[in-house]
Amino acid sequence: MPSTLFSPIRLGSVELDNRIVIAPMCQYSAVDGCATDWHLAHLGMLANSGASLVIVEATHVERHGRITHGCMGLYSDESEAALKRVIDFCRRTGTAKLGIQLAHAGRKASAQRPWEGGGPLKPSQNPWETIAPSALPFGPAWHTPRAMLADDFERVRGAFAAATQRAVRIGFDAIELHMAHGYLAHSFMSPIANQRTDEYGGSMENRMRFPREIAKAVRQVVPRTIALGARITGTDWIDDGFTPADAVFCANALKAAGFDYVDVSSGGISSEARHPTTPGYNVQIAEQVRATGISTRVVGLIVTAQQAEAIVADGKADMVALARAALDHPHWGWHAARELGADVKRPNQYLRAAPALWPGAAVAR
Ligand SMILES: Cc1cc2nc3c(=O)[nH]c(=O)nc-3n(C[C@H](O)[C@H](O)[C@H](O)COP(=O)(O)O)c2cc1C
Repeated sequence: MPSTLFSPIRLGSVELDNRIVIAPMCQYSAVDGCATDWHLAHLGMLANSGASLVIVEATHVERHGRITHGCMGLYSDESEAALKRVIDFCRRTGTAKLGIQLAHAGRKASAQRPWEGGGPLKPSQNPWETIAPSALPFGPAWHTPRAMLADDFERVRGAFAAATQRAVRIGFDAIELHMAHGYLAHSFMSPIANQRTDEYGGSMENRMRFPREIAKAVRQVVPRTIALGARITGTDWIDDGFTPADAVFCANALKAAGFDYVDVSSGGISSEARHPTTPGYNVQIAEQVRATGISTRVVGLIVTAQQAEAIVADGKADMVALARAALDHPHWGWHAARELGADVKRPNQYLRAAPALWPGAAVAR
């Protein structure tokens, strides 16, 4: 039977060769939001992983929306030019289509790089004021954010639209909004972080209002030739938090806003929350989200080719995204293709590694 994982899929007007996507992964290696040589190496590598689409890490729409001092941004001409250099390079050297995740870190901003502790920046580390729906910190010892005011709503909406226009100019095939992992958009949707009493808090309809406004502002500036999606959260994994039913609500809202796809992740709303560590821990939620009719990708401990194939062949999701497995094994897609009897695009320079390594194949010199 032909592999479903290696069958094409269309997101809006963008056709992908297969259902494997490299998930966005912060590298904490940017300088004032600008991509560096590290990004050439990292994204250049993943552009030849066999995945049909590589999503560039969380790229923040304003300087104070970055998680760390090393996070990527798309808020200046310099950051746009630096990222364009990397994306042009990946186009010349890689086989994958390229997408970008646009984000605002909200109350999880002003943090240390993971290898520097991953906690909130100390007074000596040039911290900054964070914003959130309510003045509630992410966890003990974290910065207490300022509850957003009318000006903040307007500025952040505008920043998302402006960063999106920069991403369009750079030439991405897909643009996706970060609405998960406890960052700003998710923090509005979750009752754990959002305790507002105005029209932006309370019911799911109200909690969805600001993410929906961002989605609308972005939709208006993304041409239909580019796929538009969002990474959403499936659950907070906390009692009285965001639920899979809320995820379905969110997916329906994005579908109505004209989004082409969602990616289902979970967790990250509070320092107390822990998500499961079982294989494919978001798959059941993705299946519920997919029932809305929007193209659905799922992420979270998808590691083997057979597991990925089963997820899409059984209709649990339309696509899978991999993060850590792809760092560990950057040609993951090539090996999955071999295991599933499918083929995958490889750069000309590496063609001899493919069939020649099949057992019994002759090696031409
Ligand atoms: C190094 C690293 C950086 C990450 N950065 C991001 C990010 O920028 N945006 C995001 O939505 N998720 C980020 N994640 C989460 C992954 O995209 C993914 O959802 C998570 O690791 C689970 O998938 P996995 O089990 O395949 O690793 C990151 C994960 C890793 C390991």
